[in-house]
Amino acid sequence: MALTGLENNDLKLIIFGGKGGVGKTSCAIAAALSLSENFNTLLISTDPAHSVSDCLEQQIGFKVTKVEGSAKLWAIEVVADEALSGFKTQHRGELKKLLETSTNLDNDDIDDLLTLSIPGIDEVMSFKTIIDFIEEGGFEKYVVDTAPTGHALRLIASPKLLDEWIKMAARMRWKYRYMITSFSGSYQQDDVDTFLLSLKKTVKRIENILKDKTKCEFIPVCIAESMAIKETGRLLADLGKSEIIPKQIIVNNVMVSDECDFCQRRKAGQLPYLQEIAESFSELNKVEVPMFAEEIKGMEALNKLKKVLLSEN
Ligand SMILES: Nc1ncnc2c1ncn2[C@@H]1O[C@H](COP(=O)(O)OP(=O)(O)OP(=O)(O)O)[C@@H](O)[C@H]1O
Ligand SMILES: [Mg+2]
Repeated sequence: MALTGLENNDLKLIIFGGKGGVGKTSCAIAAALSLSENFNTLLISTDPAHSVSDCLEQQIGFKVTKVEGSAKLWAIEVVADEALSGFKTQHRGELKKLLETSTNLDNDDIDDLLTLSIPGIDEVMSFKTIIDFIEEGGFEKYVVDTAPTGHALRLIASPKLLDEWIKMAARMRWKYRYMITSFSGSYQQDDVDTFLLSLKKTVKRIENILKDKTKCEFIPVCIAESMAIKETGRLLADLGKSEIIPKQIIVNNVMVSDECDFCQRRKAGQLPYLQEIAESFSELNKVEVPMFAEEIKGMEALNKLKKVLLSEN
């Protein structure tokens, strides 16, 4: 069984997620390479470890970079800190005015507050960067490689977090608006209101794409080991809470060779777990990827994985 449906024209965003070290980056790049044969594809890594550069053996970084040796593949490693500081610089005026008009803080306190990081804001900014790319429409497919499970879930939960933040800001503003209206009889929408409204639109845009099964697909990557199966179960349950229901799962590192005693023992050891995966995730199509003798690094290895993932000969 191979990954299916990735070439559907409506499908724009494909997110790979799973436990640490199970092969998310390798599979995301291999799938993106395959898609790039027919579609302008952007591979986006939100993993702070920058493993996309390592795996491709090419420096990528926080700018859209053509992947050497590919047909139509570009890549970017989204650096959350930089995305956040870019956002703060762009909207410093509005953020400052929001705090000035809604709190009793003095200028120094406000400057201190603006340099503090709001928990979860990194993921919000990473996701906003992804959505901005999709809305700019420069590519036909967007493949996202995430850092281990918790990170992917925070990414998925980011619109909710941003929404709560906007609601709090709107409540703070409401008092200010009430005061202005009481004094002057009327209230004109200002740039802070426009800013909050545009953030609210960002939340809606993110939610609309994430929940649209024709536009977005989440592909969990798992291996035949107890802890990975448990973590995948929790990942699927948490995704379900956000109405994200995967259709297929990659089972990586499956031992196929019988040629040595070690291989036979590894293979036998995986059998019960493969059975457990079949039973626990019965509603998902399973895409088994063999354990290769070499690590997945560089174009040759990635192309080999691509052929297995997409069942090309
Ligand atoms: N099928 C495979 N056969 C052999 N080696 C593999 C296979 N899949 C992945 N690897 C190797 O396993 C290691 C982990 O893979 P990868 O970096 O893709 O995992 P990851 O889930 O992205 O890890 P992280 O959670 O750290 O981001 C890498 O060294 C990769 O080359
Ligand atoms: Mg990775």
